[in-house]
Amino acid sequence: PIQACLFDLDGVLVDTAKYHFLAWKRLADELGFEFTEEDNERLKGVSRMASLEILLEVGNLQLDETSKIALAEKKNKWYVDYISSMDESEILPGSLSFLKELKQHGIKVALGSASKNAMMILNNAHLVPYFDVIIDGTTTSNAKPDPEVFILGAKGVQVSPEHCVVFEDAEAGIEAATRAGMRSIGIGAQGTLIHAEHVVSSLEEMSVEKLQRIMTKH
Ligand code: G6P
Ligand code: MG
Repeated sequence: PIQACLFDLDGVLVDTAKYHFLAWKRLADELGFEFTEEDNERLKGVSRMASLEILLEVGNLQLDETSKIALAEKKNKWYVDYISSMDESEILPGSLSFLKELKQHGIKVALGSASKNAMMILNNAHLVPYFDVIIDGTTTSNAKPDPEVFILGAKGVQVSPEHCVVFEDAEAGIEAATRAGMRSIGIGAQGTLIHAEHVVSSLEEMSVEKLQRIMTKH
């Protein structure tokens, strides 16, 4: 049975993926090229600098390292501006009740986020108390699809990877889960996240009973 749930943050527990998109789009606008929601799919779950590289590829721009750092900082300032006033209302439907149910059943809960802004978001949304372990962009050195973030999470809660399930809205995150030797559930539209074992549209569809049931069959 599943003994630990590892959650991505942006787009899984909180509705912040839209703010990342807004900030990247604003940067692309300023640089003078189109950046669509479809392009944005490639950025989900990916670290800040790696995201910038993809964005510049979309715009067909080559820049030196100093300019790249400046652009990443600019994007982050806008993003932090968007999220600094966020509160519990940005918690995605079903998240809180599922987190509470996991606790009642003694299932460990870990955060596995690439974001360096994760603590600010968790604090603003009052989500900190729900986690046994928090691993984010400040504690990892290798970004998803590298499995590091989830391996550290599983170590933190002392559960072996085969008893862990990862909830992710990004392809890079599903790949990270698989490479960590863990089970995976995608959060998204049917037909997307094709490498996830199961896809649900939101955590509203989850319960501990359903989790154990769908994770029993391979
Ligand atoms: C998450 C988001 C990405 C974001 C990354 C880094 O994985 O899905 O869109 O780029 O975190 O976030 P940060 O807040 O550190 O720029
Ligand atoms: Mg995400």
